[in-house]
This record gives sequence, structure tokens and C-alpha cells, in this order.
Amino acid sequence: MYLGIDLGTSGVKALMIDEQQNVISAASAPLQVDHLHDGWSEQDPQSWIDATRAAIANIASGGTNLKLVRGIGLSGQMHGATVLDSAGTPLRSSILWNDIRSHIEAAKLDGNPIFREITGNIVFPGFTAPKLLWLKTHEPEIFDKIAMVLLPKDYLRLWLTGEYASDMSDASGTSWLDVATRQWSDPLLTTCDLSTAQMPSLVEGTEVSGFLRASIATELGLPAGIPIAGGAGDNAASAVGLGAIHSGHGFVSLGTSGVVFATNDQFSPAPESAIHAFCHALPNLWHQMGVILSAGDSLSWLSNTFEKPTSALLDELGGDLSPPNSTMFLPYLSGERTPHNDAEIRGAFLGLGQMSTRADMTQSVLEGVAFAFRDSLEALKEAGGQPESLSVVGGGSKSAYWVELLATVLDQPCDLHAESEIGAALGAARLGLIAAENADPSDICTPPAVVRQITPNASLRSAFDDTYQIYRNTYPALKGIK
Ligand code: XUL
Repeated sequence: MYLGIDLGTSGVKALMIDEQQNVISAASAPLQVDHLHDGWSEQDPQSWIDATRAAIANIASGGTNLKLVRGIGLSGQMHGATVLDSAGTPLRSSILWNDIRSHIEAAKLDGNPIFREITGNIVFPGFTAPKLLWLKTHEPEIFDKIAMVLLPKDYLRLWLTGEYASDMSDASGTSWLDVATRQWSDPLLTTCDLSTAQMPSLVEGTEVSGFLRASIATELGLPAGIPIAGGAGDNAASAVGLGAIHSGHGFVSLGTSGVVFATNDQFSPAPESAIHAFCHALPNLWHQMGVILSAGDSLSWLSNTFEKPTSALLDELGGDLSPPNSTMFLPYLSGERTPHNDAEIRGAFLGLGQMSTRADMTQSVLEGVAFAFRDSLEALKEAGGQPESLSVVGGGSKSAYWVELLATVLDQPCDLHAESEIGAALGAARLGLIAAENADPSDICTPPAVVRQITPNASLRSAFDDTYQIYRNTYPALKGIK
């Protein structure tokens, strides 16, 4: 069997597959995010280890024999700056992908043409490099002690194997990787007063990055010495789980973040459209993606605000897709990446009236997020990366209402797969299998069966198209409200 561990933002998921890739068991454990100030988002790295322990224990308590595991793959939320001292101990909480405190530092780095030239990407505030500049200015005593900078899932790897390593897809989101040649860039690191000595070694997602330490193996009930694959950032891992490993394959991820993803057989940078161009988890493969910072997170925010579970909010909408609500929501709770690259913009409800209900607000949140996906899809098309078909993964894919709304707003059929909410963990397990057995990725990364295709709602398509145009025109007006 093979174990996939996906370190998400809202929880750690663990998934076990057998040699035929049947899902044997899956379990998760929740994580909290600390928002100490507006625009800040942090997690304690120790909480990742605790949640991973709990998720694996949940799998074991379900009766799965962990001793049969032959390989492990890791996937995780990207970009988080996890800074360690020379003993490998975190110097502070990790600063996450949706933390935008370093927007001034990001704009400064982005103004230096070598960043876009070498990485092919805008230096977004959520990327790792500007966070290190922020630390240098605001927490210099910490910056001076930094011996190693790791991405979140790579901190789990350090705990599991004792190795400092990362994979190409996740490293692409640091702003320090030469994405075309797949190696750390000395000039970019030097600009941030860092060096390759403070960076983990790099492997492809399918390669072995280290072996499970005996002490951790005993603690978790796993065999000692089994290989841990390079793994992937969560979006590239989802692509592996969906078999999106050929040019033209794409998907939509409706998780805490929102992602429209397209696989490319060559590096295809398009920073002017705020599209990300990163290495894929497989060698000689790249991908493009548009990223929405608050997709599922907008619904979580509403759920926290109303103190009602998201399932209860969704139940109030009923099963049938309604025409566009007269209330409009703009989902910029943490600013936005694609297409605006704007850390200072904030969200809005517009058109509220005396008769507005909680259900109107829920409906408009789902619609606003769907419009944000349309923005990203339009940007992706402009960058030449239009996916031919769209699968939907992530927690939001469990809502048939939301998926039909997405299909209608994007005017593309959306495919749902079994276990679609755990796509990244499946991708991680597949990478663990490939590394352990030296298997051919194209034999393993096949598209899982489509259990349901949800098509655009023809009678509502033009109404949503018209409302999308209003949504697009609202962003410039919002810029005035700071
Ligand atoms: C991608 C990104 C998010 C996180 C969420 O650039 O920031 O999708 O990976 O987990």
C-alpha cells in the first residue's frame, strides 16, 4: 500500500491506496489558521505534525494495516515561509500562502526585472521571497538566525526523514526558482540576502527524497526505511490525482483557495495576465494556473460569521440552481491574485435590501466565487492555456449546486470523480507509489472514472453572463474603498 499525506490549510488528509490504486482508507484532522491582523495568516508548524499524527492514527484505528505501506508521498499548501534555525527548529509560526502582509516587499522585488525573467511569474505577496524580506525588516533578530527556509509539506518531510528537500512544483512558488531549468537561482536568492545553503535540495515529485526514520516509524506504526517521494504542491498533486499530466488537461480546485489549472508540455510564462507558470510534479512538464485567494474560504468566513455550518447554509439554497441573486458578493477577503494582483482590495456585498436573507448572502457568495473562477479562466485563455475539459476537485465539489453554478458561469461541463474532495492526497499517494516502485508515471497517473458530469444550465447561462459583466465592472469601483 501507499500513503498520501496532504497538508491543506484547513486540515491534514491521509489516504491509503493499494497497488491497483483502490482507495483503502482515508482520514483527516483539522487545522486552525491564526489571523493576528487583517491580511495576516499563520500556522504553528507543530500543529501540522500533530494533525498528521492524528490523521494517520485515524486510518490505523479504522483497521488498515500500516505495516503494509511501501511508500509515502507528500502534498501541501504552497508558498508558506517556514523558517528554521541551525538545529531545524522553527523560529516562528509559518507565514502562509494567503498572508499578504508583504505586499510592499513583493512590489519591490517584482520591480526588479530579473524576478519575472527567471521565474516567469509575478512576485505575489503570498509567495515566499517577499515574506523573507518582510522578516528582514520587521523581525531582524529572527532573519539573522535563519539556517533553512522550508515550504509547509517539506517541514513534514524533515520530521519524517530528517532530510531538507523540496520538489520542483512547490519550489516554483518561492520566487527563487529558475522555473525553466528547474534549479535554485543564485541571483534571486542574493537579492534577498539569502543563499542556496539556506534552501532545501531539489528533487522531482516522482523521485525518492529520503527514507522514514526508525523512531517516527515506530511511533506511527509504519515500516522503517520506506521511501518518501518528492511529492508536490497541492495543485500539482491534484493534477497527478486526476491524471492531468498531458498538455490541454485541466481542472478546477474549489478548496480554501480556488484554482483553474492547465498542464503544459513546455514552460509557458505569462506574468502580465497574473497567471502562475510553475513546474509540474513530473519531470519535463509544467503547468499554468489562475489562483483565487478566498474561494471556499469565503463560504467558511460566512459560516463563521453566522455561526452556522456551511452544510446548513447550503441546505437553505435548496437543490435547484436559482437565477443570479440581486445581491452581489466580491470575494476579495484576502485581496486577490489572478487577475488583479491586488493585496489591498477587500471584498463586498452589494445590493442588500430590507428583504435580504442569509440565503441570499450564501447564494451571492457562491456566485461571487464562481465569477472569480471565470476571471481566472479568461486570464488562462489569454495566456494560451485553455483546458479542454474541466474536472472539479476540493471540498466545494461536494455541493452539486456550486458545481452547476460553476459549469454555467464557465460555460463548460464539469466532471466529478469519486473521492474528488481528496484529489491532492490521491496524487501524493500516487507519487509515493511511483517513487517506491520506480513505476512509469504515465501508467499510474490515469484519469479516475467520472462519476457524474454536470453541464451548464442552458436557461440561466445568459443571465449569469450578464451578471458576470457587472461583477467585472465592479472591481475598479471597489479600488476606491480602502
Ligand atoms: C497556489 C496557492 C494555493 C495554495 C492552497 O498558488 O497559493 O492554491 O497552494 O493550498
